[in-house]
Amino acid sequence: MARDKGRRQPAAVAAVVFALVMTAAGVVRGKSKPKTCDKGWECKSSIYCCNETISDYFQVYQFENLFSKRNAPVAHAVGFWDYHSFITASALFQPLGFGTTGGKQMGMKEVAAFLGHVGSKTSCGYGVATGGPLAWGLCYNHEMSPSQSYCNPDYLYPCTPGVEYYGRGALPVYWNYNYGITGDGIKVDLLNHPEYLEQNATVAFQAAMWRWMNPMKKKQPSAHDVFVGNWKPTKNDTLSKRLPGFGATINILNGDQVCGQGSIDAMNSIISHYQYYLDLMGIGREHSGDNLDCAEQEAFNPSYKPAAS
Ligand SMILES: *[C@@H]1O[C@H](CO)[C@@H](O)[C@H](O)[C@H]1NC(C)=O
Ligand SMILES: *[C@@H]1O[C@H](CO)[C@@H](O)[C@H](O)[C@H]1NC(C)=O
Ligand SMILES: *[C@@H]1O[C@H](CO)[C@@H](O)[C@H](O)[C@H]1NC(C)=O
Repeated sequence: MARDKGRRQPAAVAAVVFALVMTAAGVVRGKSKPKTCDKGWECKSSIYCCNETISDYFQVYQFENLFSKRNAPVAHAVGFWDYHSFITASALFQPLGFGTTGGKQMGMKEVAAFLGHVGSKTSCGYGVATGGPLAWGLCYNHEMSPSQSYCNPDYLYPCTPGVEYYGRGALPVYWNYNYGITGDGIKVDLLNHPEYLEQNATVAFQAAMWRWMNPMKKKQPSAHDVFVGNWKPTKNDTLSKRLPGFGATINILNGDQVCGQGSIDAMNSIISHYQYYLDLMGIGREHSGDNLDCAEQEAFNPSYKPAAS
């Protein structure tokens, strides 16, 4: 995985950009200032009027349907993942627009999209018959047989002696510097305690949502932005076939490991999870949106080019 110094930008930068976007949207609609709304504990003092919080439209039975096999005896994180942790974690990000942008249907689609990535990254459904391969999301909470300790010398985020930085969490985090950046983002000391991501499901979901909501580099969009329509492609983006939609979220989260390689399994598995969840949530895959895949997209951050630093 390429090292991404750009992710160290202060969250304030993203917040400012976001505030500008919101202001512009308000002007277009002729509103002078964004409305704040305190309804719903998940959304306190948000600029989004959250009478449609995630827990309003996504309830425990839906979570159970989406991840129906996660506590099967052969699963690898039995008893770990639950609805309550997901909602508790989302309360950090709903006031920033996670699941609360663009109305109820877009909110539900964003939850399906986020969980589609999570489900495919944590699935153990390959070759397992019961329930079909898509029923096995949240089967893992950490890498089972790490081949290395994922420690690279780093000035800002040096490895803590004796600590291993193998993949853990809902969108698995690898490498000391990624634990460091993510920990800064959610204000949890993951650099010294990466194990929190396999011990506390709320922290694991928070880390994944932080990754979803924040761009990898300055002047790039987040997965959230490209999905909900906050992002306008530049000419370069268009030339690289990067357009708003679910496909661009795959690009942001996986880069050229998954995108720009045609219709490969790794990409199709993520899309299949997203669409399976859309169906189960009652939205239906016909509402998957434009630009669903990234088969022809060039990566936002190509791994063959060292990250500019
Ligand atoms: C609040 O919810 C109702 C439906 O329950 C909806 O009609 C209304 O537009 C929502 N208001 C805001 C500001 O989101
Ligand atoms: C898990 O993490 C959350 C958020 O940091 C915290 O509030 C909670 O107390 C933790 N749970 C346990 C059992 O440590
Ligand atoms: C557009 O892409 C070209 C070629 O990759 C690059 O040299 C240029 O800096 C890019 N422009 C912007 C604004 O990113």
